[in-house]
Amino acid sequence: MSDRLALVTGASSGIGYWLARELGSRGYDLVVCSAGERLENAKSDFASLGVQVKDVTADLSTRDGVEELWNAVETLGRPLDVACLNAGIGVGGLFWETDLEQELEMVELNCVGTVQLAKYVIQHMRPLGAGKVLFTASIAGEMVAPREAVYAATKAFVLSFAHSVRYELRDTGITVTALQPGPTDTDFFHRAGMDNTEVGAKGKKESQPQDVAKQGIDALFAGDDHVYAASGKTKMEGMLANAIPGSVKGAMHEKMARPKDEK
Ligand SMILES: NC(=O)c1ccc[n+]([C@@H]2O[C@H](COP(=O)([O-])OP(=O)(O)OC[C@H]3O[C@@H](n4cnc5c(N)ncnc54)[C@H](OP(=O)(O)O)[C@@H]3O)[C@@H](O)[C@H]2O)c1
Repeated sequence: MSDRLALVTGASSGIGYWLARELGSRGYDLVVCSAGERLENAKSDFASLGVQVKDVTADLSTRDGVEELWNAVETLGRPLDVACLNAGIGVGGLFWETDLEQELEMVELNCVGTVQLAKYVIQHMRPLGAGKVLFTASIAGEMVAPREAVYAATKAFVLSFAHSVRYELRDTGITVTALQPGPTDTDFFHRAGMDNTEVGAKGKKESQPQDVAKQGIDALFAGDDHVYAASGKTKMEGMLANAIPGSVKGAMHEKMARPKDEK
């Protein structure tokens, strides 16, 4: 058993899988969570790194699911050193055409579940006077994002939340870092119904999830407030995000997120 423990949500695939691998390879025992069956295979991969792994299958878009995950952490009776609040989904399409229920479920997972879990994590770390928390936001949180309007708003929420909580915790020994990936080669765009878009295809080329995760964990351990990850293009877009007019950001995003067969 290691003397250090980390929690990673959305660890069955994509960025979360690689965040957990990165932490496992740095000697952290792991609590990993996702909602589906894929977590079992991921758990074996993490355990092969020689650390202890507790897997929790829970739907983090529900209050009960988040509570179930936190109960599992508490049952271990160990201090939690690192928490990566990463689980998230997207919904692509024009707002007046997208499915409301899907969007509300996304808000429940990306925003409500994240706040609920962060509350438990930070209230746990506060008396310990130590801890590192990583929130997976997105570069989309600083964009004007037609055809991902609600998704981008959830990530703006996570980003603002992370920055504000970081400031509140500045003298406590707990650091908060926002991971801001650009388009990354994961299941994300497929799940969001965006296979037939430039950004859906671009994610496959622009950044790999292992690079995003590595940069996220490096920033977390450096105590940085945020990191744009992973490609040079994503870093450049992130740095220019506040300088580019909203109309230009909207046009850039519209081009990437419009279905290819739509004129
Ligand atoms: N890919 C990108 O281009 C990109 C860019 C910027 C930000 N991000 C953010 O990165 C994070 C990870 O996404 P990804 O790209 O790695 O996509 P992904 O491969 O689809 O991973 C999403 C993870 O979240 C889990 N998950 C989904 N719904 C859940 C629920 N209701 N309860 C618990 N877990 C749930 C999934 O697990 P199961 O499906 O196995 O349940 C999976 O482990 C998200 O927050 C996303 O917004 C992604």
